[in-house]
Parts: sequence; C-alpha cells; structure tokens
Amino acid sequence: AGGAVADGLIVLLAAPRSFCAGVERAVEIVEKALEQRAHPVYVRKQIVHNSHVVAALEARGAVFVDELDEVPHGATVVFSAHGVSPAVRAEADRRGLAVVDATCPLVTKVHAEARRFAGRGDTVVLVGHAGHEEVEGTLGEAPRRTVLVADVAGVAALEVEDPERVSYLTQTTLAADEVAEVVAALRARFPRLRGPGSDDICYATTNRQEAVKAIARDADVVLVVGSTNSSNSQRLVELARRLGTPAHLIDDVRAVRAEWLAGARVVGLSAGASAPPRLVDEVIEVLRARGPVTVQERAVAAEHLQFALPPAVRA
Ligand code: F3S
Repeated sequence: AGGAVADGLIVLLAAPRSFCAGVERAVEIVEKALEQRAHPVYVRKQIVHNSHVVAALEARGAVFVDELDEVPHGATVVFSAHGVSPAVRAEADRRGLAVVDATCPLVTKVHAEARRFAGRGDTVVLVGHAGHEEVEGTLGEAPRRTVLVADVAGVAALEVEDPERVSYLTQTTLAADEVAEVVAALRARFPRLRGPGSDDICYATTNRQEAVKAIARDADVVLVVGSTNSSNSQRLVELARRLGTPAHLIDDVRAVRAEWLAGARVVGLSAGASAPPRLVDEVIEVLRARGPVTVQERAVAAEHLQFALPPAVRA
C-alpha cells in the first residue's frame, strides 16, 4: 500500500468517450434557443441524462419540466435528445407551444422504422428498458402494435398476433452483446423475424463500448463518468464488470472513493455519451494531485460525425 502512488499511476483513457454528436447537438440547440427566444425557454425532461449539463443550462435560464402542462401557452419548449411520442407532439400543438426539437437524428431513425414496421402489419418487438424516455417515445409511434422486451427471459413470454410477422427494434444505448443474445432468442422463436437495415444501437454507444473493452482487461479498476440515469454510461460500467474488472459510475470526481483506488496501479477511465469532457479532465487532475500519473489513451475509433441544427434554431 502506498507504493502504487510512489511508483506512479497509469490512467488508461478510453477513446472515444464523452459527448456524442447527438448530445452536442442537443446542448447547442438549448443554448441557441436561450439566445434566440423569449425567456423562459422550457425543456421537456432532462435534455440529456447528465446532471452537470442540466445544471449548466438551468444557470443560463432554461427551465426543465417533466410534462407539457407545466409550460404556459405559447412558450418555447425544447424536446430532449431522447425523443418524444406523437402524443406529446400533438399535445404541444394543442397547447400552442413553439417546439424546438432536439431529438437525436439516430433516435428519429428508430421512430421511422417503428412506423414502417407497424405499417406493414408486423408486431414490433422493441428491445429496451421500461420507463426510459427513449423507449416511451419509440413505443408511442405504434402503441398497439409494439411490445417491449428487456432480455432473453422476456422473449419466451412474448405473445404476438402472427409469428410470421414480427420485427424488432432496439433502444440506441444498449449493450451490443446483450442485444445480440435477445435477437438470437427472437429469431429462434420467430424464424421470419425482420430487423432494421442497420443497427439501432448507435455508433457512439458501439464505439464507447469497444473502447471500454480495450481498457478494462488491463485496468485494476474502471471509472466511468456519467449520471445514474444515463443508459449508455450504465452499460459501460456493466461491460467492464463482465470483463472481470471492478467498475464504478461517477457523476463527477467528488464521487470517487479512496478505497476504490487503494492498491490500483492502472485506472481505466471513460465517460458516457452525455458526460461533458471537462469532468474527465477533472478526474485526471485530482489523481495528479495525489502523485505522479501517466495518461495513456487507447483509441479504437475516430469520430467525425456532426449533425446539423434544426431550422428552428439556425442562425
Ligand atoms: Fe444519439 Fe447515440 Fe448520442 S442515439 S444522442 S448519438 S448516444
């Protein structure tokens, strides 16, 4: 004990990590709305699942609400990156709200698939977690034709109208290996199963999971920066643990416990797609304050994707 610090600590930094293109766009949409629109600017639900992002936008005047009945007639409301159901859009219309939509385009793609699959008469099996905002939005596209399944056990319990006409979709932020198991179970039960043309698990989720795989085996402990309600961040922690490495989700550096680092020579570090990069820098700073640190980045992919802003907030 103590020797680890004297010999220096290695921080294995996963790359890619932190903000994805959909989160950057969503945050920028709220910032632009705050610049361009009459205040208060309302945001339905957390714009992205990160307490620091929400607090920073609140400080600039954004008012976060749970439901649209908290928004006065005629005001501006931003829909979060996770998307909304058609029922929410209709309610915004009814209430005369000026909508600025920050739904990630990769979530919008899944909504379009839900409409298409349901439209051809299929039962749509949505693989995802009950209660998550993205799942609520996607389910709302075809509520009578869509059933939610969380895991392999759920597949056995499924009841469908016609086993020949079943399609599946997934939440964008699930663990790729877990989804593969569920889809295999679905295919075993419904051999004519059809799925999306390209994976619903988004590029950012995939890349962050691959990057955690690349650091977890060589790390004594893995820290993932992210808020507890962040699905993709939770999946990164679980993935590291499945690989046999203790892992912890931290909202920021203040959540790090000394006992997690006791005896650790190599600390793996990543951040979920909704966690600001600055929070990762802060973790490294605090580790540096304890003793010598060598940072080694392991990059498994380069990300260049950027999404255009919606017309509602373009200059
Ligand atoms: Fe979009 Fe994937 Fe980020 S769905 S908001 S790019 S985690």
